[in-house]
Amino acid sequence: MTEIARSTTEWQQADLDNYLHPFTDYKALLDAKALVITRGEGCYVWDSDGNRYLDGLAGLACVNIGYGRTELGRAAAAQIAELSYFNSFFKSTNPPAVRLAEKLVDITPAGLNHVFYANSGSEANDTALRMVRQYWMLEGQPEKQTVIAREMAYHGSTVAAGALSGMPPMHEQAAVVPDVQHIQCPYQFQYGRDMGEEEFGVLAARWLEDRVLKTGPEKVAAFFAEPVQGAGGGKIPPRNYFAEIGKICRKYDVLLVIDEVITGFGRTGKWFASDLMQIEQVDLMCIAKGITSGYLPLSAVMVGDRVADTLVEKGGEFFHGFTYSGHPVSCAVALENIRILDEEGIIRQVAGVTGPYLNQRMKALSESPLVGEVRSCGMIAAVELVRDNETMEPIADNMEDIERYTEAFRDLCLEQGIIVRPIGSTIMLCPPLIISEPEIDFLVDKMQVALNGFEKIIQ
Ligand SMILES: Cc1ncc(COP(=O)(O)O)c(C=O)c1O
Repeated sequence: MTEIARSTTEWQQADLDNYLHPFTDYKALLDAKALVITRGEGCYVWDSDGNRYLDGLAGLACVNIGYGRTELGRAAAAQIAELSYFNSFFKSTNPPAVRLAEKLVDITPAGLNHVFYANSGSEANDTALRMVRQYWMLEGQPEKQTVIAREMAYHGSTVAAGALSGMPPMHEQAAVVPDVQHIQCPYQFQYGRDMGEEEFGVLAARWLEDRVLKTGPEKVAAFFAEPVQGAGGGKIPPRNYFAEIGKICRKYDVLLVIDEVITGFGRTGKWFASDLMQIEQVDLMCIAKGITSGYLPLSAVMVGDRVADTLVEKGGEFFHGFTYSGHPVSCAVALENIRILDEEGIIRQVAGVTGPYLNQRMKALSESPLVGEVRSCGMIAAVELVRDNETMEPIADNMEDIERYTEAFRDLCLEQGIIVRPIGSTIMLCPPLIISEPEIDFLVDKMQVALNGFEKIIQ
């Protein structure tokens, strides 16, 4: 039955009546009303009034190959016709899940030779937490259960992933599990503006060592970290940070879990940011989002030999998994997405052309007195807004007002036909990896217009 077209107001009212959105203040949405997105193609989406936006956020940092690639639709349709679903629980498997596992082992860093499938980044991080704790139990060190993560980290929103995330408002809403600690993140703009990058990198890594020693190395199971902190505001660590972190993890026998949910599948100009940042001896790697370019839900934990060997040899049954682990349709779509990323040279283009171009264009925004810092890494970029970049005074003295201001900035961007993400005092960009240089010009020019408008709001 074809539905009669609805007006924007009708969509918004029905949305308010029935749909509880993720990470939303429901009362605030009553006044603001949702933006109804109805169509996407390439780097653009359209709303229900026909307005076009350049999506500077790639959906939610996931639509790496852009919207509307019908090859992915065809891959899904073919797989649905062949085998729409089967479980992987009871000594069963399916060809797309096996083929994708081979492919993932091939493109991820050496030593990550096994794949555990889930459906979201949150579930991947939950899985990683259970694996590290199970690993140390099986290795006869049951006291090694404490996990260290970082402030402003985002690892997802299930109870365990929320507990791993370094976001106190989530902890206050029951995202808590025992023995998870947080250390400061390598956010030089806040914690080390007066230091050289390398010196700060050593200092920030030492925060991990201090905490391991304070807790007792015999109790510390793992360290969880995103290569670039995404939902924490596009925070890029000093170049030497992860080399130092690696040394500390090895020295105290702490497993290293790298969350590449945003940074994977080309976002930083390499298949994985672990390659870019030379993060060595990764024990577990969480991947999601760009694995299917967001066309279907899928995530995975890449499991290093050390943990996999123990789980296989000593583990017995691993009491963990999901109905849709290794879903054949999601896996078929992921394979097609990876083929496109590879064969069309999309990641090389980010590394060699569009990533440096975005960086160069974004840096020009620093001329505004309201810009304290511009950071970028491949197709992740962030602008740190301040009241005055001479003094670096924050745009407001409490988080509620800061967020009100940066949401106003986002609205100015929407008026200009671009989608950006406000995070605290930061404006974040994560465009599709296929964005062209003229589209980057459009994005940055419109951000400049929004900055000019913002000057009036902030006075
Ligand atoms: C680094 C990181 N890890 C985990 C997650 C959670 O992923 P999901 O929303 O698919 O559960 C996100 C989501 O933005 C993320 O950025």
